[in-house]
Amino acid sequence: MVKNLTKALVSHTHDLMFNMVHNRCLIYNVCWEDPRIDRQVLDLNGESNIVVLTSAGCNTLDYLLDSPAAIHAVDVNPRQNALLHLKLALIERDCFDDLFAMFGLGSHERFREIYFSLRKRLPPYTRNFWDDKIQYFDRAGKKQSFYYHGTSGAIAWILTRYLLSFGTKSHFIFDLLDAQTLDEQKEIYQKIEPILWHKFSSWLVKQPMTLAMLGVPRPQIRLIKEQYKGGILAYVSNKLKHVWTEVLIRDNYFWRVYLMGSYTRDCCPNYLKEENFEILHSNIDRVYTYNSTISDFLKNNPGSYSHFVLLDHQDWLAWHHPEALQEEWRLIFENSRPGSKILMRSASNDVCFIPEAVRSSLRFFPDLTEALHRQDRVGTYGSLHLAEVL
Ligand SMILES: C[S@@+](CC[C@H](N)C(=O)[O-])C[C@H]1O[C@@H](n2cnc3c(N)ncnc32)[C@H](O)[C@@H]1O
Repeated sequence: MVKNLTKALVSHTHDLMFNMVHNRCLIYNVCWEDPRIDRQVLDLNGESNIVVLTSAGCNTLDYLLDSPAAIHAVDVNPRQNALLHLKLALIERDCFDDLFAMFGLGSHERFREIYFSLRKRLPPYTRNFWDDKIQYFDRAGKKQSFYYHGTSGAIAWILTRYLLSFGTKSHFIFDLLDAQTLDEQKEIYQKIEPILWHKFSSWLVKQPMTLAMLGVPRPQIRLIKEQYKGGILAYVSNKLKHVWTEVLIRDNYFWRVYLMGSYTRDCCPNYLKEENFEILHSNIDRVYTYNSTISDFLKNNPGSYSHFVLLDHQDWLAWHHPEALQEEWRLIFENSRPGSKILMRSASNDVCFIPEAVRSSLRFFPDLTEALHRQDRVGTYGSLHLAEVL
C-alpha cells in the first residue's frame, strides 16, 4: 500500500515537472530527428502539402529545399515556433553569414544589432519571447552558444562540462568527431566508454528532471523500461554505442553541435549550407506556423494533406491520452487522401503505440524503414515507421 502510494506520488511529481517545463520553456534547440532519412522516404515535390511538428524548425527548413507547395509547422509550445520564426526572419533578411553565425556557430558578436534589424519581421508573440532571450546568442556569455540554452541545451552543457573535466582524456571526444572511418570510431569509442558512463553521468541520465528537460515524458520512459532490459541507462548507452560506432560521424551534426556548441560549414543541417540559401530564401513564404495541437490544427484548417511528419509525439499520447490519440487519427484520416504519407518515430521497438483499428487502414514499409533506421544519425529512437493511407 505504502509502496503503491509512493510510486503514484513519484509519477505525479514527474508529470508535474514535465508539464511545468513544457509550459514555460524552450525545450528543443535542434530538431532531434534525421531529415536525410525523412526525405528519402517522403518523396516531396511541388504538390506536397505537409503537416509537421515544429520542434526546433530545422527539419521544416530541410523539407523546404524540395520546394513543396506548403509546409504547416504545428507545435503546442509557442516557443518552438518562435525559434522557427527567428530562423525564417534571418533567411528573409538575406545575409547568409549572419544566419550562419547565429545558428551555425550559435553566437554572433553583434547579436543584438542583428535581432533589432529583423525584429519587425517577427509575429508579436515571438518578439516577446526573443526580447527576453536573445542573449542566448551572446558570444561573450558564460555558455557562449545558443546550443547550450533551452532545456535540452542546458543538459548538453552540463554533460559536456562533465566530460571536459576529465582533462586530457576528454580529447578522445574531439578525436571521435574527427574520425573518418568506422574502424577509427570503434577504436576511439573504446577509450571514451569508461569516462562516458561514470557515476555522475549514469545518475544524471536517469533523473526524471533530466528526462523532462530533454523532452522525454513519463509514457516514453515507461515504454523504454517495459521493452528494454536494463532500463533507461542501458537504452541510452546501447543507442549511443550504435550511433557512435556503426554510423559515420564525420557528417553527424546532431552530436557535434551538443559536444562542441557549434556546427562547422561542412557538418551542419542543410538549411545552414551556403549553396542552399538561395532556394530557401525564395521558398520562405511556403512555411506557415500554428501554435496548437495537431488535432486542433486539423479541426481549424481542414484540407487534403499529402504528408504528416509526427515525430515521436504519439508515444506521448498513447499511454496518457488514448482518447486524444484516437481523435488525432480520426482527423488525420479525414484530412488526408489515399497515398498520403505519415512518418513517425518511437521509443518503442514496434508500432504498438498506434491503435490496432487504425493500423488496418494503413500500409507500412518495415523493410525500408528498418534499414534506414539503422543509419539514422540521431540514433536514440527505438523505431521508425512510414505509413501510407489506404
Ligand atoms: C514530440 S516532440 C519530440 C522532439 C523530436 N523528436 C525532435 O525532433 O526534436 C516535438 C515537439 O512536439 C510538440 N508536441 C507534442 N505533442 C504535440 C501535439 N499533440 N500537437 C502539437 N505539438 C505537439 C512539442 O511541444 C515539441 O516541441
